[in-house]
Amino acid sequence: MYKKIVQYSLVYPQGVEMKNDGKLKTIDLFAGVGGIRLGFEKAKKFKTVFANDFDKTCKDTYDRNFDFPKLDTRSILDVPIEELPEFDLLLGGFPCQAFSIAGYRKGFKDDKGRGNLFFRIAEILGERKPKAFLLENVKNLKGHDKGKTFKIIEKTLTDLGYYTKNEVLNSMTHANIPQNRERIFIVGFRDKKQAENFKFPETIPLKKSFRELTADEADNKYYYNDKPLYKRIKDDIDSEETVYQWRRKYVRANKKGVVPTLTANMGLGGHNVPIIKNHKGIRKLTPRECFLIQGFPDKFKLGHLADSKLYHQAGNSVTVPLIERVAKEMAKVL
Ligand SMILES: C[S@@+](CC[C@H](N)C(=O)[O-])C[C@H]1O[C@@H](n2cnc3c(N)ncnc32)[C@H](O)[C@@H]1O
Repeated sequence: MYKKIVQYSLVYPQGVEMKNDGKLKTIDLFAGVGGIRLGFEKAKKFKTVFANDFDKTCKDTYDRNFDFPKLDTRSILDVPIEELPEFDLLLGGFPCQAFSIAGYRKGFKDDKGRGNLFFRIAEILGERKPKAFLLENVKNLKGHDKGKTFKIIEKTLTDLGYYTKNEVLNSMTHANIPQNRERIFIVGFRDKKQAENFKFPETIPLKKSFRELTADEADNKYYYNDKPLYKRIKDDIDSEETVYQWRRKYVRANKKGVVPTLTANMGLGGHNVPIIKNHKGIRKLTPRECFLIQGFPDKFKLGHLADSKLYHQAGNSVTVPLIERVAKEMAKVL
């Protein structure tokens, strides 16, 4: 097995020689549209050598934005571990449905096997023993099943020889991004000193309002003005400084200047897409605005996918500047 790994490490699977530029090599698992990758690459010390996600619509966005490597769309369960190129860090925002309240509290027993994907990560770490990893998930992973799920995760990682630390970070308090998005970050290092020296980023002031990330005008299809819901929501949506959501029966106003957590289910028929008001009317955020509110750069390319897919991709992703801050802290100790 080891021989095979060495063989794969010299030449990239697609036959491309990897230059030795001193950067740490990362694999981007459950890569989605590459939010974690963008954050790590901004930290300068890392380069991606393998990317995987079995969602083919993500491939459209991912491959448009990254020349190399292109997104491998096999299920990670079908990727032989010895086929992975040599790497130093495993990165993955593994699927959260199995752990989130929205996923019906099924945890490891999720019948679509999603909870078990954590164990695939564990297998890869166990066989390849990279220097470090970063895992990202929903905040309530920690409280799931009265904390038992998280204990299993921590014990598994420790038994594999990693020293771990975890923290819940919020995009609006830790990344100057006006989105109230709390996520748990778990880092692990094989070297005890590196783990001890690692610090999660501190809070920073939120200086940006959602206004700076939303356009004055948008295509007519995003406006409610001529839609049946308009009459029900128009009186409650009265401030241009607040972001609202339609919660089946009522309008919910969010904290001033801040967007509520963007979620993957924004893609399901436009439900939950945050609503704003300006001189032209009342409208949903556009997919592009959702990407900006995850801190993706303006130049990030979005293809001609249905809006529902793009909302889903944005909600499933991460806040890029927050990942960049975590990556910089990891770079300091590695
Ligand atoms: C929470 S999202 C991660 C998004 C990513 N961090 C980003 O920046 O876009 C989880 C991803 O895991 C992928 N996924 C779920 N099961 C998978 C499997 N068996 N193999 C590969 N990818 C899988 C989903 O398609 C989804 O894109």
